[in-house]
Amino acid sequence: MRTYLITLVGLLFVLFSYAAAYDPLDPNGNITIKWDVMSWTPDGYVAVVTMNNFQMYRHIMSPGWTLGWTWAKKEVIWTMIGAQATEQGDCSKFKGNIPHCCKKTPTVVDMLPGVPYNQQFTNCCKGGVLASWGQDPQSSVSAFQVSVGQAGTTNKTVKLPKNFTLLGPGPGYTCSPAKIVPPTKFFTADLRRKTQALMTWNVTCTYSQFVAQKHPKCCVSLSTFYNETITSCPSCACGCENKHKCIKSDSKLLSMVGVNTPRKDNAPLLQCTQHMCPVRIHWHVKLNYKEYWRVKITLTNFNYRVNYTQWTLVAQHPNLNNVTQVFSFDYKPLVPYQSISKFFEILHQYKS
Ligand SMILES: *[C@@H]1O[C@H](CO)[C@@H](O)[C@H](O)[C@H]1NC(C)=O
Ligand SMILES: *[C@@H]1O[C@H](CO)[C@@H](O)[C@H](O)[C@H]1NC(C)=O
Ligand SMILES: *[C@@H]1O[C@H](CO)[C@@H](O)[C@H](O)[C@H]1NC(C)=O
Ligand SMILES: *[C@@H]1O[C@H](CO)[C@@H](O)[C@H](O)[C@H]1NC(C)=O
Ligand SMILES: *[C@@H]1O[C@H](CO)[C@@H](O)[C@H](O)[C@H]1NC(C)=O
Ligand SMILES: *[C@@H]1O[C@H](CO)[C@@H](O)[C@H](O)[C@H]1NC(C)=O
Ligand SMILES: *[C@@H]1O[C@H](CO)[C@@H](O)[C@H](O)[C@H]1NC(C)=O
Repeated sequence: MRTYLITLVGLLFVLFSYAAAYDPLDPNGNITIKWDVMSWTPDGYVAVVTMNNFQMYRHIMSPGWTLGWTWAKKEVIWTMIGAQATEQGDCSKFKGNIPHCCKKTPTVVDMLPGVPYNQQFTNCCKGGVLASWGQDPQSSVSAFQVSVGQAGTTNKTVKLPKNFTLLGPGPGYTCSPAKIVPPTKFFTADLRRKTQALMTWNVTCTYSQFVAQKHPKCCVSLSTFYNETITSCPSCACGCENKHKCIKSDSKLLSMVGVNTPRKDNAPLLQCTQHMCPVRIHWHVKLNYKEYWRVKITLTNFNYRVNYTQWTLVAQHPNLNNVTQVFSFDYKPLVPYQSISKFFEILHQYKS
C-alpha cells in the first residue's frame, strides 16, 4: 500500500468537491481517432491511424487502450505496423499470402515498448498508455499503420469503418461515427514542402463516468487540526455489491504469487473497508489563518491489482484561483469556464 502526501498553501476556507460524473471541468475533452489514407493499393489502401488524447487530465493508463470497429464490407487487414489485432479470425479463404486479420470486427491493441525496429511506427509501442493533454501533449498521441485489403481503392468507393469502440482500459468511452474531414497536410522533413493524405476521416470519442461505472471510484474524507473528529468516507461510497470479494490487509492471500497481476476485465482486488473504494482522498486542514490556509492531501490506494504509476488529482475549490505553493507535486490550474469557480490539477509521476 502506498500513501501519497500533498501539501498545499492557499487562501482561506475549505470547500471541496471531487470531479466525478460527466466533466464540466473538461467540457471539450475527447479522444480523436484519425485515419489518413496515404496510398491506394491494388485491392485497398494503406492508412495511418492516429489517436490524440485531447482530454485535459484523463490519461489512459496501463494496460492501455483497445480499439475496435466493424468493417463496412469484406475488408481484411493485410499488415499492421505499430499495433496488432488481438485475433486473426478465419482467413481460410486465403492462399499464399495470409492476412494479419480477417475478422469483421477487429480489436486492435498497441505494441509493448521494445518491439523490433521493423514493427515500430512513430508514436507507437507504448503499451497503449496515453498521457493527458494537460499533462504531456507530446505523449498524448498514439499511432499505427494499417494496410487494408478487399476495400475500395478510390475515395469514391472506399467505405468508412463503422461502430468504433474504445476501451481505455475498461468502459467509459462512446465514439461518434467516422466522418470525412479535409485531408491532413503533412510537412516534409525539411519543412519545405507540404503533402497531403489522399483521404481523411475522424472519429471522436468522449468519456462519461456514467457509462464507465455505476459507482464512483474514489471517496473523500475530511479532518481539521482543531477537531479530532474525522469525517470518513460514507459507507459503501463506491458500492458494496462486491464486499464478499474484498480482502483483509493482513490476509495470507496477499503473499500469493500473482495476486497483484491486473485482470483482463480490470476487476479490482480491494482491501476491505467500509467505503469499498479503490482510492481514498483525505483532505486535512492543517492551518487556517486569515491570510492563508494549508491542507495536506493524502491519497491511498486500496486496489491490490493496480499501481497508479501516473495519476492526476483534480479538485475544485472557490479559493484555488490563488494557490501560492504546492509541495512535492506539480500543479496546474485548469480554467475552461470563467463562470464556475476555479480549480486546480495536480500532475504527478511517481517513481517507485
Ligand atoms: C475534441 O477536443 C478538441 C480539444 O479540446 C476540440 O478542439 C474539439 O472541438 C473536440 N471535438 C469534438 C467533436 O468535440
Ligand atoms: C481530426 O482529428 C485531428 C486529430 O487527430 C484534429 O487535429 C482535427 O482537427 C480533426 N478534424 C476535425 C474536422 O475534427
Ligand atoms: C476525391 O478525390 C477527388 C480528386 O481525385 C477530389 O476532388 C474529391 O474532393 C475527393 N473526395 C473526397 C471525399 O475526399
Ligand atoms: C457495435 O459494437 C458493439 C460492441 O462491439 C456491439 O455490441 C454492437 O452490436 C455493434 N453494433 C453494430 C451495428 O455493429
Ligand atoms: C468536533 O466536531 C464534531 C462533529 O462535527 C462536533 O460534534 C464537536 O462538537 C466538535 N468538537 C469541538 C471541540 O469543536
Ligand atoms: C506494484 O508494485 C509492487 C512493488 O513494486 C509490486 O510488488 C506489485 O506487483 C505491483 N503491482 C502491479 C499490479 O503492478
Ligand atoms: C494571490 O495571493 C497573493 C498573496 O498571497 C496576493 O498578493 C494576490 O493579490 C492574490 N491574487 C488574487 C487574484 O487574489
